[in-house]
Amino acid sequence: MKKYLDSLPKEIQDLISQASDSAYSNNMSVYLVGGFVRDLILGVKNLDLDIVVEGDGIKFAEVLSQKLNVGLIRHRRFGTATVILKKHLKVDIATTRQEYYPQPAYLPEVTCGVLKDDLMRRDFTINAMAISINRQDFGRFIDCFGGEADLADKKIRVLHNLSFVDDPTRILRAIRFEQRYNFKLEPKTLKLLREANELKMLERVQPQRLRDELILLLKEGCPLKPLNRIKELIKFNFINSGLSLSKKNLVFLKSVESQINWFKRKYPKRRQLDTWLIYLIGLIDPLNINNIKLICKKFAFRRGEEKRILAYKKLEPQFIKELSRDKIKASRVFSLLEPLSYEVIILIKAKFKNKNLEKYIKDFFEIYNGTHLYISGADLHKLGLTPGPYYQKIFHRVLNAKLDGLVKTKKEELGLIKKISEDKSYGAKRT
Ligand code: CTP
Repeated sequence: MKKYLDSLPKEIQDLISQASDSAYSNNMSVYLVGGFVRDLILGVKNLDLDIVVEGDGIKFAEVLSQKLNVGLIRHRRFGTATVILKKHLKVDIATTRQEYYPQPAYLPEVTCGVLKDDLMRRDFTINAMAISINRQDFGRFIDCFGGEADLADKKIRVLHNLSFVDDPTRILRAIRFEQRYNFKLEPKTLKLLREANELKMLERVQPQRLRDELILLLKEGCPLKPLNRIKELIKFNFINSGLSLSKKNLVFLKSVESQINWFKRKYPKRRQLDTWLIYLIGLIDPLNINNIKLICKKFAFRRGEEKRILAYKKLEPQFIKELSRDKIKASRVFSLLEPLSYEVIILIKAKFKNKNLEKYIKDFFEIYNGTHLYISGADLHKLGLTPGPYYQKIFHRVLNAKLDGLVKTKKEELGLIKKISEDKSYGAKRT
């Protein structure tokens, strides 16, 4: 495996050698494991290092984070920690462990074990390989379950018959990895997955764990692939029994996908979209609002996420009708779209195919959304206006005038303020 390690970017090689030194000086044994090893062999970039420590994982994480002078998050209940470096690079550190599942579909209780036991508790053979980064045998490859051969044969294979029962979220993980790498579920694994599905195992998982796994699936480069496979293999009852990914819904999701790509291509510097949320809203689009509220409650989405999910569902037909009209003033387009999130606007563009609406949304992103006023509170103050909530009303009015092309320069903005401040309905107060 040394040749693989040598092919890594220097920054990651340095990190691995720091980890190796930390282990050596603290008399611990450490191994790279899991997705990092899988992707290293596949030649896929992966900046999430997974390290297991034979010994005290949290202690090792503390030593490493001090050595690197970076932050650390401890998860004591699981004996794990995450060391976070800049540029999205992070190291997940675990203590080698055996797991005991108190009840099927529950979180495991952890007891100490050695490396092989730790690997044995993992989901698939391709995620159960390790590489020693200990000084004495640096680069030694440990593959107890045939993970390398399965990678070569493009197979997803569980390590034991109860894998999906112990942890049903692996049903979604199996589909995710299969579709991500264009692999195939090995026949026995496929049979076990179907059996676990017939036992409705996914519905027994704590909803938050299910939510996290669903989000990971929707964050995949092309989430339509695993969604289609879910439809084929297990259906969507684990989200809501009314959900089926109909042909019509699929056409909509394809349109959603192309609108996301459009946005990313056109506006690479804008804030990053929560694409998983856009796909989720698209997926549950056929459901009525009550079912959607039930989903939000069950999965306990964050407030901001729930807000965007419901904002889309609550759009009035009148809103779309107005946005589809000819020649609406720019200020009106702005006031319609500005309260919505980018995610919801992308969904509207994907759903309602209308030339006017598309143009207004484009104008919104391209022109209106970046429009700033030259004037500020200081200018109002200089004009002798006592600060107060009506400042916002004045700014709003000037912004509308600017969007509609009625004022352009700072002088014109100031001229308008003077006029507005004489209008009694604004309630301007003079110092
Ligand atoms: N794992 C597992 N069962 C799970 C979740 C994780 O056995 N339900 C193990 C696997 O060995 C996996 C490792 O924990 O490789 C790390 O999990 P995670 O970071 O979720 O997955 P990765 O394999 O790194 O996948 P990704 O590329 O999607 O991050």
